[in-house]
Amino acid sequence: MTAASLEDRLKRRIAELGPITVADYMAEVLTHPEQGYYSARDPFGVAGDFITAPEVSQMFGELIGLWCADVWQRLGSPATIKLIELGPGRGTLMADALRAVRILPEFRRAIEVHLVEVSPVLRERQAETLKDEAVTWHGELAEVPDGPCILIANEFFDALPIRQFRKDPKGWCEVMVGHDPASERLAFALSAPSRNAAAYVPEALRDSPPGAMVEVSPASIAIMSEAARRVAAHGGAGLVIDYGRGEQRAEATLQAVRGHARAEVLDAPGSADLTAHVDFPTLAEVARQAGAETHGPVGQGAFLKGLGIEQRAAILRAHASDRQAKEIDAALHRLCAQEQMGTLFKALAVTPPDFGVPAGFPEG
Ligand SMILES: C[S@@+](CC[C@H](N)C(=O)[O-])C[C@H]1O[C@@H](n2cnc3c(N)ncnc32)[C@H](O)[C@@H]1O
Repeated sequence: MTAASLEDRLKRRIAELGPITVADYMAEVLTHPEQGYYSARDPFGVAGDFITAPEVSQMFGELIGLWCADVWQRLGSPATIKLIELGPGRGTLMADALRAVRILPEFRRAIEVHLVEVSPVLRERQAETLKDEAVTWHGELAEVPDGPCILIANEFFDALPIRQFRKDPKGWCEVMVGHDPASERLAFALSAPSRNAAAYVPEALRDSPPGAMVEVSPASIAIMSEAARRVAAHGGAGLVIDYGRGEQRAEATLQAVRGHARAEVLDAPGSADLTAHVDFPTLAEVARQAGAETHGPVGQGAFLKGLGIEQRAAILRAHASDRQAKEIDAALHRLCAQEQMGTLFKALAVTPPDFGVPAGFPEG
């Protein structure tokens, strides 16, 4: 089946039921069981659409593995702990993390790996990468049995559907996806202003001037709430790393990326990745409401340096050829430099109350 049939399906649905929300559009386009962007392909790498931090360098997953080991020790080294990764992509982060923690055999033995992944293609890829591991897959976090856990989510929340709201002179309206009969293309449209739309907008942003756009991700809120509940009730920690805002702001960030370049959001649905900036203040607030404590967000560069990425790079360089040493330096720069992934990408940790400050986060 081609991407056009996903577009036709969307047009039919809109013709029958009327315009759909941006969140419904994203969910269909990204995770439709057969034709969704993630369901149908491995999008990573030079030949794909984008590269994520674990694909940039093994150092990323290794340091996260050591972060997990520190959490486990602070929990009193429980005999079993669930290591849950949300949206594990190719499984690279998990493989690097598990290799790094071999230095702590007791922790290594305690780990039960749980992967939350919707894409059948990526599940196969993860199974290949982690072929020597006992792994359990789940379609959603709620399916993972309760118990002490460490949750990792790298570039997961930015892929979750968002709703968009726009302030009109008469009030807040929702941005919808409709069908323009003249051009026969999918087109953005605005709902009438309503109190219902206004209710979705965080209170601090409700008085924004006309033209302001606000994005809200109900799916992210639900998943963070569930993750924080588990951590607070059963012990453990969560680590979210993603690109996004560190303070609440009215802005439109939804974007499409195909072949490492920006594309039109409504063009050829299913053939481009769709993401939006993660709203860290809202995620942190939701986690606290669920009974957990939060740390950060801090820039990815500061977080990785706090975990010792420069020292790790120096060790790898000592055993590397000139070409490999240059690649290690380039990866370090890409992951940590301010103008690269060092500041826009941020880390947020979720712990039980009284856990203390996890590694890589500033005290106080
Ligand atoms: C941008 S990729 C990040 C992959 C990986 N964490 C990395 O850093 O390379 C997003 C991942 O989340 C998965 N995903 C997207 N939406 C999902 C959902 N609603 N539930 C579970 N997994 C989802 C995708 O299939 C993919 O594995």
